[in-house]
Amino acid sequence: MIPKRKLGTSDLEISALGLGCWQFSKGVGMIGNFWSSVDDKMIEEIIQTSLDGGINWFDTAEAYGNGESEKALARILNKMDVTEKDALIATKWWPVLRRASSITKTIQDRIDCLQGRTIHLHQVHQPFSISSIKKQMKAMAELVQSGKVVTVGVSNFNAKQMRQAHEELAQYDIPLVSNQVKYSLLDRRMESNDVINTAKELGITIIAYSPLEQGLVTGKFHKNPELLQQLSRSRRIMNRKKFKNITTSQPLIDTLESIAEKYEVSPSQIALNWLITFHGDTVVAIPGATKISHAKENISALSFRLNESELEEIDKVSKQVLSM
Ligand SMILES: NC(=O)c1ccc[n+]([C@@H]2O[C@H](COP(=O)([O-])OP(=O)(O)OC[C@H]3O[C@@H](n4cnc5c(N)ncnc54)[C@H](OP(=O)(O)O)[C@@H]3O)[C@@H](O)[C@H]2O)c1
Repeated sequence: MIPKRKLGTSDLEISALGLGCWQFSKGVGMIGNFWSSVDDKMIEEIIQTSLDGGINWFDTAEAYGNGESEKALARILNKMDVTEKDALIATKWWPVLRRASSITKTIQDRIDCLQGRTIHLHQVHQPFSISSIKKQMKAMAELVQSGKVVTVGVSNFNAKQMRQAHEELAQYDIPLVSNQVKYSLLDRRMESNDVINTAKELGITIIAYSPLEQGLVTGKFHKNPELLQQLSRSRRIMNRKKFKNITTSQPLIDTLESIAEKYEVSPSQIALNWLITFHGDTVVAIPGATKISHAKENISALSFRLNESELEEIDKVSKQVLSM
């Protein structure tokens, strides 16, 4: 049995790893076509493998294929007869060029896409709404009060925005449970911009997205740089700096590989284990997967614990690489 953690200060208990479901966008829309389409059979196997490995929550969003990811997730969980308590769902409202009133207007679409399955966590995807944080949190609080969602989170909020969201929700006696931000051994900005300290102070869970730096931390592109040419244009553009200077991160991959040998695991398992251990219970991570082998490998990161000197060694090498 994999130990669970509290989601923020809520009563919900989540595994330290969830499954990122952006990959299930079916190639639809500007954001969804970042990944090639994954068919339902593969999605089912990835979900089954994740559940078997102890994962009990799934991160999706309105923006992932304009609801296609939500639909695929719900369709498959329902087909597999997975109960709501065994598969908590986190989704997100897309705020760009929208007002807070759209949170209320679009909630039925989210519920429909999720085939009526409970929304355990509803997140504001980006801090870019036309409306103030105050109005967005009021709309979110009303969704909790009316029983449409269980908890509220934000994503890509800086420390000040996160604190404000927390304060606004507190007026309704509702906690801000999470902030989903980019965090990996090759992107540690949330440690220097006060997000992690503020989260610890306020009891907010940090949900680390792109925890494998979209595959870079696994070492597969270091071993076979030709794989980079097979990625979608948007993925290459988004990662152009890191993909261009791939040799810069080689010392980190070497360190992950040498520790991985000791545990008889893979570098990505070491990287994920580091992420969910280094800051105690505050950080959980949501690696995405397009193959069963990814899901199998990633969930095994839950089955061991790095010791203090290994955590420190990885911390040191990662910082050295990032300072180059
Ligand atoms: N809130 C936000 O703004 C935001 C932004 C981005 C992501 N997210 C969320 O975070 C989740 C994860 O982030 P992400 O997909 O950007 O990055 P990620 O989890 O770091 O990378 C996922 C990709 O890495 C490769 N991969 C995964 N496990 C692997 C393994 N064991 N061995 C080799 N390769 C492996 C796969 O690439 P290939 O498919 O190419 O093999 C997979 O599609 C998303 O699904 C989404 O739910 C949120």
